[in-house]
Formats: sequence, C-alpha cells, structure tokens
Amino acid sequence: MTTGSIRSRMLDIAHEDCRYLPDKIETYEKEDPHNPDPGLLRLRTRGAFLFNWWVGAKPGDVCTKSVPTIKYNAPHRYHWSNQVYQTIPMYLGTTHVAVGFVDLGTLLCADIRGVEGEGEGAGPLSYVGYEMVAHNVAKSLILWHMMQGEGDIRDVGDMVLQVWFSSSWEPRTEAAFRAAAVAALSALSPDTKGWLDIVAVLRHWIEPANAAPPLARCRELWQAQHELCLCHCLKRPCDRRAVAAYELAGDFAVPPTPAGTECDLVGSMVLYCSPDGTPPGVKDEKVFSCAPFDEVCRECRQAEEAEGAEVSVVTGVERWLRGKVHNLIPRARDGSVTVSLHLGDITDKAVVKSVAAMAPRTMSWSNVLDYIPAKAFHTLAKQCGGKTCTHNGLLDIHHTPMRLKVLTLYRQFQVKVAQETGVLPYLRLPIPEMPVNGASYFLQHMLFHRDVILM
Ligand SMILES: C[S@@+](CC[C@H](N)C(=O)[O-])C[C@H]1O[C@@H](n2cnc3c(N)ncnc32)[C@H](O)[C@@H]1O
Repeated sequence: MTTGSIRSRMLDIAHEDCRYLPDKIETYEKEDPHNPDPGLLRLRTRGAFLFNWWVGAKPGDVCTKSVPTIKYNAPHRYHWSNQVYQTIPMYLGTTHVAVGFVDLGTLLCADIRGVEGEGEGAGPLSYVGYEMVAHNVAKSLILWHMMQGEGDIRDVGDMVLQVWFSSSWEPRTEAAFRAAAVAALSALSPDTKGWLDIVAVLRHWIEPANAAPPLARCRELWQAQHELCLCHCLKRPCDRRAVAAYELAGDFAVPPTPAGTECDLVGSMVLYCSPDGTPPGVKDEKVFSCAPFDEVCRECRQAEEAEGAEVSVVTGVERWLRGKVHNLIPRARDGSVTVSLHLGDITDKAVVKSVAAMAPRTMSWSNVLDYIPAKAFHTLAKQCGGKTCTHNGLLDIHHTPMRLKVLTLYRQFQVKVAQETGVLPYLRLPIPEMPVNGASYFLQHMLFHRDVILM
C-alpha cells in the first residue's frame, strides 16, 4: 500500500468508527471485563509532552512535570452536563463535594449507600456543590426545591425534567418553577458563597415582568442554537423521526399535543429568560450528552417488550432520566439527602478552606482537572479532602492546542477527500458528527501506528 492509500484507508476507518461516538466509546469502556483499547487510553493524555511521556511510561509511573493548562474563566454556560453522568458512590452520614457540577446530575445518578458497618442510620448525605456560573447554581437550587415540594411524584418528576432539559414547558411548570425559586431564595443563607449573584438570578426568575417567552419565540431561539444533527447516526426510522422532532423543537418530557388541538406550551425561562450578564449558552447541547447510550437502549428494549411496539431513543432517554428523578424525589423529601450549592472557584484559597472544614468523604470534579496542572491538582485534592477522601474526575482534551491542531488537520482531510471524490458540492463540511471525536479517533490511528508517517 502507498502512504496515500494507507492514509485514506485510515481516514475511512476513523470516519466510520467516529460516526457512533461518543456513545460507542462509552459502551466500549464499560465492557466487562473493563479492558479498554490501549489506543483509547492514549487519547486521555493531553498534549505532545504528556503523550511522549506516556509512550515511555511503565504501569504505575506518575508524571510529575507540571504542564501549563488553560484556566477556566466561565466563558459560557452549559444547559446541563455535557458529559455522561457517572455513578459515584456517596455515603449517608458523610459529605460529598461536587466541583463544577453544572447541574445535579452527579446526585441524580449517585449510588447512595450507608458507610460499611453503619447501615442506613448514619444521618443524611450532605451534597455540597461549587460552580463558577451563578445561573447553574440558581437553576440547580430550584430543581432541588421542586423535588422537595409536595405533589404526585410523577407530576413533579415531569416538571423537573422540563425545567432541567426542555426548551418548552407546560404552564403548570412555570408556576412550580417560580414557587420553587421563591422557596430557594428564602432558604438561601447569606453565608452561601456568591450569595448576591445567586440571589440576582433567583429574583430575576421570580419577577412577574419576566415571563416565559411564547412558544413561537422559543422555537426560533432553540433553532438558532442548534445546527448539528444526529439523525443520520441512527439506524431505525422510528429513532430518526423522534430525534428529528426533538432537534427541531427541543421538547423534552412534555405531553404530546393531540392532532387538531391547541398547544399551550410556553418557552423555558431557564433557557430564554436570563438576567443580563449571564454567560451565553453553549450551542448544540442535546439531552443525549448526559445519558449513557447503552442504558438508554436498554430502556427502549424493556419498554418494547412491555408494550409490544417500537420505542424511540428519545423516549428511552426520557424514561431513563424519569426513573432517576423518581428515585431522588423521596430522598429530597425525607431529608436523607441535603443540598447546599455555592458560587465559587475551587482554586480559591477561601473555598479550599471551607471544603477542607467539611472533611468530605467523596468529591467529584467534572473535568475541572483539565484546567489545573496535574501536580497542582494533587495538592488541591489533598488540601480539600485529606487522606481519606475519594476523588472522581474526568478528563477531556479538546481545549489543548494539540487537539485543536489535530481537529484542523482532520477537517482539512475531510475537504481534500471530498474534493478528490467529487462530493464536495453535496456535503456540508465539516461533517456534522462530533468532529472532536472524529479528530480523536483519527489521532489515535495516526499515533498508534507510529511506523506510518501520515503528514
Ligand atoms: C469544567 S466545565 C466542563 C465543560 C466542558 N466539558 C469543557 O471542557 O469545557 C464544567 C463546569 O465546571 C465549572 N468550573 C470550571 N472550573 C471550575 C473551578 N475552578 N471551580 C468550580 N467550578 C469550575 C464551570 O463553571 C462549568 O460549568
């Protein structure tokens, strides 16, 4: 094979393989026994220096050199977590500190249990969060107050899902949201870090003049924020139809409108009615980003067996999240979990001091550790949690200059291949299917087979 044909073959493989990412990577990494491809593990190294270190490292080696990283400066807000919610063990009678929590997903999917030998009677789990975006803190507080409030679990659960994920709400959801904002405001202690900023967002949402936008306006705004399309990644027509409808409207967990009737939904206040100065929302966020796709598919299969009809993956995500919310609501109501959320930067000394004083048993870091050099992270983690705390974190690599370079090269390759094969006039480039993952996979192939010089 010539280098050129090896190149295009590898690009083809990368292209084929990346079409189903990130769900594929995730399912793959969860395989039992847990035995990920070494190539995938290599992708978790950041930048050329770390990659070169990794190539020569033996199992158990620790890289101690500090590599400069970009500091997170809250340039935008995530509507919900853009990483699949992890199932983290959290223990009753102890404190869990969630750093960069974005939403309450770590709590929603937590494996809440008694500390070994102490059973369930050890007291509540105290969930404490730190975030750099006031909007996220205020929204999460409201979700928690909605879950604590009265009402049928199924009704409350659906209203919670709408506030959390949907572009449109039922009118009753707006009322419940405002009531929960009032409750959150009166319960918020002035000792809360970032109190003033959180209060400003809650007040904005309570103010009668700030109403939920009409549905037509909400549709326009949703469509302006969404360009990427997932439909072509799905095999079954029923999934493509459901995902297309979701991508056009952004409706989630709202009741279907029977044909020929008036739809009385309104736009989400969380998405479309924020105070001035709120960081802009990230584009193209979909509810699929936070739910493990294999579990979603399992939900579909179970529902199909029970109902004897096809169940789309959109319904599958809804069912998966609804089940989690239904499990958490009783904990919110019986006090076996308490929640306090703060606006703060974990690298701030005062925040570290407050966290250390709580002696957390477990901590989760989202991918905040991507923004802190490794050595500094270890020091910080020890200062926050001492020797007995278990830390959970994720690494993402798409902010590094190395990743950007690979992404650019990958896109150039796409254009070249499209030009050579004459399909350029018919293709929207870059191909709208997680270019970052495409680039990752390409990078993996490129570096894993190092005997092939690609560029
Ligand atoms: C780390 S970002 C991750 C989003 C995305 N995966 C990325 O890499 O940009 C998730 C959340 O962490 C918060 N965050 C980032 N750095 C933080 C810090 N030092 N302390 C507290 N929260 C932080 C941000 O406000 C954001 O909402």
